[in-house]
Amino acid sequence: MAAPPPAWLAPHAITGALPGLLAYSFAGGAPTAAAAAAAAAAAARELAARPAATAAARRALYTAVDAPHFTLNDGSRLPAVGLGTWKAGPGEVRAAVAAALKAGYRHIDCAEVYANEEEVGEALGAVLEAGLVPRSELYICGKVWNSNHSAARVRQACLKSLKALRLDYLDLYLIHWPVTGSVGEVKPSIQETWQAMETLVQEGLVRSIGVSNFSAVKLAEILTYARIPPAVCQVEVHPYHRNNALIAWCKERDIHVTAFSPLGSPDSESIFPRKRPLVLLQDETVKAVAARTGRNVGQVLIRWALQHGTSVIPKSTSPQRIKGNLDVLDWELSAEDYAALCMLPFQQRMVNGAMWLNPKGPYHTMEELWDEPELD
Ligand SMILES: NC(=O)c1ccc[n+]([C@@H]2O[C@H](COP(=O)([O-])OP(=O)(O)OC[C@H]3O[C@@H](n4cnc5c(N)ncnc54)[C@H](OP(=O)(O)O)[C@@H]3O)[C@@H](O)[C@H]2O)c1
Repeated sequence: MAAPPPAWLAPHAITGALPGLLAYSFAGGAPTAAAAAAAAAAAARELAARPAATAAARRALYTAVDAPHFTLNDGSRLPAVGLGTWKAGPGEVRAAVAAALKAGYRHIDCAEVYANEEEVGEALGAVLEAGLVPRSELYICGKVWNSNHSAARVRQACLKSLKALRLDYLDLYLIHWPVTGSVGEVKPSIQETWQAMETLVQEGLVRSIGVSNFSAVKLAEILTYARIPPAVCQVEVHPYHRNNALIAWCKERDIHVTAFSPLGSPDSESIFPRKRPLVLLQDETVKAVAARTGRNVGQVLIRWALQHGTSVIPKSTSPQRIKGNLDVLDWELSAEDYAALCMLPFQQRMVNGAMWLNPKGPYHTMEELWDEPELD
C-alpha cells in the first residue's frame, strides 16, 4: 500500500471534523445512553468510510485544469502552460511544485543546473506515491548541462536527473545550450550529443528530445543527421524578444517552440546583466493591456505567449501567482491588444548567453552564438 503523503502536501485535505460530536449537547447536560450509542454507531460508520472518502477528496484536489496541449512531431502531447523552476531555491521549490500540481499544472520545467531537482522530485514523488496524479498526466522536462555533452555523460546525466526527480522516464529532454565549455570548436560535437539523446529515446528513458537556446542555423544542422528530429526548441520569447523568425522557421519544420522567461525574467538580472534595465512587467503598454482586460500583467504576458503560438513556462514560487498564472485559458487578448504587444519598438534578450563568449571560440561574439545580428 502507498505511504500516506506528508502533511505539507495537503494540510487542508482532511477536514478533521469529529463524527458524532454534534450528538453531545453541551447546553443540556449529559447525553442519554441511547443518544450516546447512536453517536458511537455513527462515528464508527463514518470512520469505516473515511479512508476511501479521504482518498477521493484528496484526488479531487488535484484535478487537472482542462488545459490545452500542443501535439509534438512524435505524437506526444505537451501541456501549453508549465511551471518554470530556475532560481526557485532550496526550501521553496518543493512547495511551489506541490502548489502548481494542486492548481492544475501538469507540466514542470526542470534542469540539472537549477540544482533543485531533488526537491522537485520530493514534490513529484509525494503526489505520485499517494496516487493523487497519475504519472501519465504529468509532463516533466529535463535538460542536459553543458559539461555532460559526451555520449557517456548524456546518459549518466539523464539517469542522475531521473533519480533526483524520482521518475523512471522524462517526457522531454533538451540539450540546454549549444555550448560545451571547449575552446576552438564545440567539442564533443552537437552530433555526438544528439545521437546520445536519440539513444535515450530508444532505451525508453525519455519520450521526446529537443534543444534549448539553439538558432535556426544550429537546428538545421541537427536535421541533416537526426534519425529523430528535435520535437521542441525551448527559447526566450516575450514581447521584448518576440523571436518571430525562429518561431516561423520551427513551425515550417514541425518543431514546437516553448517560450522561456515569458515575464522577462526579472529575477535573473544579476546573472545576466542587461544593456538596458528594462522591466517587462512594468512596461506601460503591458500595464495598459492589463488594465483594459482586467487581468494582471503576468497573466497578460502568459496569454500573449499562448496567442504567439508557443507553450509557456512562467516561474513562480508564490502560491498565489502560481495559481493566477494558470488562469489564462478561458479568455483571450483582443487582436488589438495582442498586436500592441507585438509592436514594442525594441528587442532585447534577457538570458543573453554572454557568459559563453570566449576570444578563443567557438563563440567569439553574440552574433556567432545566436546566428543573428546582435539585438538592440
Ligand atoms: N532553457 C533555458 O536556458 C532557460 C532559460 C531561462 C528560463 N528557462 C525556464 O523558463 C522558466 C521561466 O523563466 P524565468 O525563470 O527566467 O523568468 P520568468 O518566468 O519570466 O519570470 C520569473 C519572475 O517573475 C515573477 N513572477 C511570476 N509570476 C508573476 C506574476 N504573475 N506577476 C509578477 N511577477 C511574477 C517571479 O517571482 P516569484 O517567484 O516571486 O513569483 C520571478 O521573479 C525558468 O524558471 C526555467 O524553467 C529556461
